[in-house]
Amino acid sequence: MEKMRVAIVGYGGMGGWHAKHLLASDVAELAGIWDIKPSQREKAISLNIHVYESYEDLLADKTVELVTVATPNDVHEELAIQALNAGKNVICEKPVTMTVESLDRMIAAAERNGVRFTTHQNRRWDVDYLAMKKVHDSGEIGKVINIESRVHGSRGIPGDWRQEKKYGGGMLYDWGIHLIDQMLMIFGFDQVDSVYCIADYLTNKEVDDGFRLDINFKNGARATVEIGTTNFIAMPRFYLRAENGTAMIADWKDETKVVKCTKQYEGNVIPVQTAAGLTKTMAPRNEITTETYTIPCPASDVHDYYRHYINAIRTGTEQDVTYEQMRTDLRVILAAFESIETGTIVKL
Ligand SMILES: NC(=O)c1ccc[n+]([C@@H]2O[C@H](COP(=O)([O-])OP(=O)(O)OC[C@H]3O[C@@H](n4cnc5c(N)ncnc54)[C@H](O)[C@@H]3O)[C@@H](O)[C@H]2O)c1
Repeated sequence: MEKMRVAIVGYGGMGGWHAKHLLASDVAELAGIWDIKPSQREKAISLNIHVYESYEDLLADKTVELVTVATPNDVHEELAIQALNAGKNVICEKPVTMTVESLDRMIAAAERNGVRFTTHQNRRWDVDYLAMKKVHDSGEIGKVINIESRVHGSRGIPGDWRQEKKYGGGMLYDWGIHLIDQMLMIFGFDQVDSVYCIADYLTNKEVDDGFRLDINFKNGARATVEIGTTNFIAMPRFYLRAENGTAMIADWKDETKVVKCTKQYEGNVIPVQTAAGLTKTMAPRNEITTETYTIPCPASDVHDYYRHYINAIRTGTEQDVTYEQMRTDLRVILAAFESIETGTIVKL
């Protein structure tokens, strides 16, 4: 099948990532880029990438069927709607936009113009997340009680637009959207009941530079999503607790370690000696009542993102990241902001 021609607006860090992937894609080809910064345009020219004269010039290119918006978050809506009104299908970088009203205007523009619109939830292809989803869905260690998902760094917020509220900065919008989307993919977008969130403002007073968000689901399960940018010792990437065992992924792309309980009651427990005394409750299990194994990383190819979306455009089938999913992801983020402000649990 003929490759779909894709143009990129915003040729910074992520625009560059899209360009690289499109150049290696088997379903798409890079038509060119537009960026308001001359230095970014020069960079593209130096790599033999076509640079349009303006955004209007890009949108006037009739060979372009799909536009990828990879600018800071505050201009996603404006640029996406311009492209949708020009009859282009659109991928908008995450977070798709900053409010539900803004998202609804983007969806309405897509529907009005009979074209497709989606956002780039590329971390649905992360192997660590896929491994956790597999443990959850298989039920091999019983019903999942909670999953903790953490990303810890120590360098604060990158020193760019992410430090400012007006551009949609802060970690909830930046990383939160990925980790929330992963949790809702596991527990169900229609299952969110309420959220509670606390945030840090340690290196930046204007936007959150870390947060801990608890999401309560209607079936009683819970997810904790935590981003830290002042953590010099990182906690495990994923920790999953189920009725009959525990699963953990220590770091990105590591195998999953599973400890499965094979017999609840152990008989004679040998107490463990702690500083202040003996405890049987916290004594470690042995191999007589547990089985320990690892699950290798599942196969994943992030090129499937463009493959699936282009296929959905061409065949009129459902896209991976649906309007309802985008809306729920954003609603959870906005409820988290409300929870930070009010110090309360916020129902969705
Ligand atoms: N999906 C992911 O994994 C991922 C990773 C990083 C960033 N992102 C997202 O990608 C987007 C861009 O982030 P980034 O890190 O590449 O930022 P960046 O600052 O590196 O690049 C943004 C580029 O957009 C250009 N720009 C700004 N306004 C513009 C306009 N009106 N028209 C044309 N160009 C414009 C800037 O000149 C800059 O070159 C953000 O929404 C961010 O959240 C997604």
